[in-house]
Amino acid sequence: MRTIAIANQKGGCGKTTTSVNLATAFAMRGNQVLLVDLDPQAHATLGLGYRPDSLDKTIYDALTNAQISMARVILSTAVKGLNLAPSNILLSGVEFELVMLHGREYVLRQQLDNISSNYDICIVDCSPSLSLLTLNALTASTDVIIPVQTQYYALEGLRQLLETTEIVKDRFNKNLEILGVLLTFVESRTTLSKQVQRQLREFFGGLIFDTVIHRTVRLAEAPSAGESVLTYSPTCRGAAEYKALADEINNGRASGSQSINSKAFAKEMSDGKT
Ligand SMILES: Nc1ncnc2c1ncn2[C@@H]1O[C@H](COP(=O)(O)OP(=O)(O)O)[C@@H](O)[C@H]1O
Ligand SMILES: [Mg+2]
Repeated sequence: MRTIAIANQKGGCGKTTTSVNLATAFAMRGNQVLLVDLDPQAHATLGLGYRPDSLDKTIYDALTNAQISMARVILSTAVKGLNLAPSNILLSGVEFELVMLHGREYVLRQQLDNISSNYDICIVDCSPSLSLLTLNALTASTDVIIPVQTQYYALEGLRQLLETTEIVKDRFNKNLEILGVLLTFVESRTTLSKQVQRQLREFFGGLIFDTVIHRTVRLAEAPSAGESVLTYSPTCRGAAEYKALADEINNGRASGSQSINSKAFAKEMSDGKT
């Protein structure tokens, strides 16, 4: 099972939108997919049509009680092949419950290991923080995708995220690779968006996905219908772009193959060269 964390501690950069729509695109291509909602805000859970406060069991139970297996938490969805490990607000307490636990960074990984033969791909929607939850996501993952809103200050906060990724690689998960940086909220008509895109591409080089996600009203509307944009509005630009992203990943964007040296990058950022 390939496990892809969608991470950026910045809120509103398109993590959940990417998680839900990429997971759906993979499922529609015939994969068995597990989407793990690792955010107490439960936007991915809502976005797939479940009411977080009405759930009997959530990912919180699997993370805080070793007797409860992931299998008991996972729900099917309206999309064939797409399954969801849902979240709700209880997950916000998980940090306190795990803080004394030896091996607290590995809890998600252990749970996912037990079910990994049932799925081809697991997508983990992270919360907007570099918390223990995000650490668990990165420790459990083979890849990380970083969505970045295409605007000025886009690079802000990235140094911290890349440093965290590096620490996780060193200490908890040597297999972790940055699969790519995904440009979101792109506005092709504005010069500003073009300038920022150029700047980001100069900076990250081949690490940026060829596929970009444009600002599309349908992408913002779909969650209120409790579904992905691929089912809500199959012919819209957002649907096409998330399908293209799944293809780009499938077509051998080998994990880490074009990776920047994130240590050097982090240093460069901290030296203020940006
Ligand atoms: N490409 C896009 N075009 C228009 N709206 C978007 C796009 N991507 C995300 N949104 C909307 O922007 C808001 C933040 O996106 P979201 O995916 O929830 O970010 P995050 O999970 O990083 O906080 C949501 O209301 C979402 O529907
Ligand atoms: Mg989110």
